[in-house]
Amino acid sequence: MSTVKKTKGTVKKPAVAPTDTVVTQATAGTQNQAGGEGSGVRRRDFIHIATVSFAGVGAAAVAMPLVSQMSASADVLALASIEVDVAAIQPGQSIKTSWRKQPVFIRNLTPAEIDAANKVDVGSLRDPQTLAERTKPGKENWLITLGVCTHLGCVPLGAAAGEVKGEYGGYFCPCHGSHYDTAARIRKGPAPLNLTVPEFAFLSDTVVKIG
Ligand code: FES
Repeated sequence: MSTVKKTKGTVKKPAVAPTDTVVTQATAGTQNQAGGEGSGVRRRDFIHIATVSFAGVGAAAVAMPLVSQMSASADVLALASIEVDVAAIQPGQSIKTSWRKQPVFIRNLTPAEIDAANKVDVGSLRDPQTLAERTKPGKENWLITLGVCTHLGCVPLGAAAGEVKGEYGGYFCPCHGSHYDTAARIRKGPAPLNLTVPEFAFLSDTVVKIG
């Protein structure tokens, strides 16, 4: 039985979470920081992913002994899918969230980033994949990948505000210098593969289910 953790992304200033709500803080990156800071108004740096509900946990679990229940919950959470409302993520922004205890980057690509990805000769890539193969039809701007470098597992930079995006404008892993492009494909450095695209599907225009 799969479990679905619904999350809702909203751009707002950090706030104290209600005690009965699980809140995951995720950072939002911007395509062009100079624009926000130059105007004296820095773009909002944080997107809070508020867990609004859990579903699918059987009622029988309630009757289980506490220790067993806690163990079951850990197992269930490890297998859980998450739902994220991406409506607040503007073009050029990305957020970090987590799924199955791994960081996930959700990025809203700008038209320029999409063009840059599509101009690349796929045959020249170490791990040949088109942007279309890494996104959903009609939703090519939504790039969803694990935030785990395929070299030795560091978390690359580029998803949070102000972070270095590397020579190809995507993500940069400073551990040993791997550069990923705007489709999160490996372009330079020791990483052997593109950032992994997890199983995901859009449940609506703005809600995506990962897992
Ligand atoms: S872990 Fe990313 S380059 Fe080595």
